[in-house]
Amino acid sequence: MVKSVAQYQAVINDYLAHHLHADVDESTLFSAMNYSLMAGGKRLRPALTLAVVEMTGGVITTDCLRAACALELLHTYSLIHDDLPAMDNDKLRRGKATNHVKFGAGMATLAGDGLLTLAFQWVSDSGLPSVVRTELTRQLSLAAGPSGMVAGQARDILGENKTLDLPALRYLHRQKTGALIQYAVKAGGILTRQPQPVMDQLARFGEQYGLAFQIYDDILDVTASAAQLGKATHKDAGEHKNTYPGLLGLSGAKEQLVATLEAAHQTQQLLANMTGHSFDGFTQFLAYFKVRDSVEEKH
Ligand code: IPE
Ligand code: IPE
Ligand code: MG
Ligand code: MG
Ligand code: MG
Repeated sequence: MVKSVAQYQAVINDYLAHHLHADVDESTLFSAMNYSLMAGGKRLRPALTLAVVEMTGGVITTDCLRAACALELLHTYSLIHDDLPAMDNDKLRRGKATNHVKFGAGMATLAGDGLLTLAFQWVSDSGLPSVVRTELTRQLSLAAGPSGMVAGQARDILGENKTLDLPALRYLHRQKTGALIQYAVKAGGILTRQPQPVMDQLARFGEQYGLAFQIYDDILDVTASAAQLGKATHKDAGEHKNTYPGLLGLSGAKEQLVATLEAAHQTQQLLANMTGHSFDGFTQFLAYFKVRDSVEEKH
């Protein structure tokens, strides 16, 4: 039985709240890592993994939960580093002062380093079968590292000096944000040992959902408030970021979002047809995108 996103969030928060301290051997470093980790993220990525596990007939064991939560460690690292003065230079994250504002840039860098490394520790010591751990490690490295998120972040910084066309921007978004979200979906299939054709469609759904997520993040930067998001908004244009609304306007960005979500919905149906399992659990994740509100409030 697939749970609600709120139920997954509760399970994930509980695991993170009880397990970080055992692996951090310095109190200030622990405080810095714990500060951002427990600051109130949506837990969307590990929730996706757990939902896929259940939709593909698996059970959420403690080992599986540890591997899923590893991705939240890694995601939190990416946010801490993304906010650093040398990157996006942001002061608010998850409704609180950013890590470097609270602990200084040096400790924030190390908190990120710690969370990144610990993610791989948690996957590799999770007690899952070694073939599963190896595949999770391989896929997480590909998604998070210099062929995925880190490459996307590099393109994001380099792009501040030039205007990317739509294919280049789409590629950037797939890397900087899509790759980790795609991994979240694939990880669920790896944990329940899905056959290749199912893995291919999970990867497709993850890619589509991940692209939609960053298009929506770009839209929210224009349409939402800092109070709503817990992070500064109306920043991307001033920082010369390449974004969907910047390139296509708000309604063009919305069109791209709707088309991407429609493609994801089709993949959801394909997965149900090919496996005989219900993939209705994806619907609540797709409901995250308030397409109408995000655009129409501007008109
Ligand atoms: C923010 O991710 C960074 C992007 C990739 C756009 P989330 O919107 O998932 O942030 P949290 O985890 O809920 O704080
Ligand atoms: C995605 O881009 C950030 C990461 C890959 C960590 P943004 O820079 O747009 O994310 P926000 O808006 O700061 O959350
Ligand atoms: Mg950024
Ligand atoms: Mg940023
Ligand atoms: Mg953003």
